[in-house]
Amino acid sequence: VNVKGKVILSKLVVSTVIIVFWEYINRNPEVDDSSAQKSWWFPSWFNNGKRRDRRKEDDTTELQLWDWFNPKKRPEVVRVTRWKAPVVWKGTYNKAILGNYYAKQKITVGLTAFAIGRYIEHYLEEFITPADRYFMVGHKVIFYIMVDDVSKVLFLELGPLHSLKVFEVKPENRWQHISMMLVKIIGEHILAHIQHEVDFLFCMDVDQVFQDNFGVKTLGQSVAQLQPWWYKHTFHLARGFYYHTAIFGGTPIQVLNITQECFKGILLEKKNDIEAEWHDESHLNKYFLLDKPSKILSLEYCWDYHISLPSDIKTVKRSWQTKEYNLVRNII
Ligand SMILES: *[C@@H]1O[C@H](CO)[C@@H](O)[C@H](O)[C@H]1NC(C)=O
Repeated sequence: VNVKGKVILSKLVVSTVIIVFWEYINRNPEVDDSSAQKSWWFPSWFNNGKRRDRRKEDDTTELQLWDWFNPKKRPEVVRVTRWKAPVVWKGTYNKAILGNYYAKQKITVGLTAFAIGRYIEHYLEEFITPADRYFMVGHKVIFYIMVDDVSKVLFLELGPLHSLKVFEVKPENRWQHISMMLVKIIGEHILAHIQHEVDFLFCMDVDQVFQDNFGVKTLGQSVAQLQPWWYKHTFHLARGFYYHTAIFGGTPIQVLNITQECFKGILLEKKNDIEAEWHDESHLNKYFLLDKPSKILSLEYCWDYHISLPSDIKTVKRSWQTKEYNLVRNII
């Protein structure tokens, strides 16, 4: 090797070191790509063959992540967290395997939503009708709708596997305490009946509309939703994930724990006369920081059209209605 060669070689080494170091300091501590790569180099035909045999022997075998999840299909987005939870993006899951598995389990999925004050007239019907069409198609669903005036709820016809239970709740005076009321009421209902009625439960904001299939790939022990604004703010990327209260879920017992912990947090703050920024959202994020969600829904599941749609988002499952804060909040 001549002198020129040595110079080129040392330049190469130095730039490699710089690139590796740069990647290292810019990595998201909560994102793990090693498992995604594992499935990439591990021949999938080999894996799949083995899994099929196992399932033949015992249909009740619990579904493993790599049975249905294929992160290599979406290399451009964050698909796996450091604690090995999948982030569900279009194209990363096997619909048929999941559908079969949950059909055999004969699951029932619950969905809670609150419509207080003028939210009943403004959002409830536009929430339920698409939910009936897109939420857990082919599986039993119970909608738990909490309203402050049952007489204002219109009769809505639902699909054969779906049922609707309407409950009257007493609203709090101050808007900030609505979130407190929500978690308290959800918790009480889980204890009283929901835990015996469903296998999985989702809690959603009523002012978002279903636009596409929201199916069994979203089910898990504890499920969190990425905040759409998180996408724009790279500092969130660097610090970890930021979750949105518009959708959270899991098994009823897990959701109960989430609501109880959030309630405790709000009570403590009230006692100390502080209110967390974004109210309930910071409590939920604190919870998921300690008790990591087992599944994360990508931005496809909760999009805000006020932000221009990035190309990573191939489909929007749910999106925000235009918020009419003045109109709705004054009434409560
Ligand atoms: C409930 O949440 C608390 C606080 O995050 C946690 O310590 C506890 O283990 C959770 N319990 C269950 C049953 O998940």
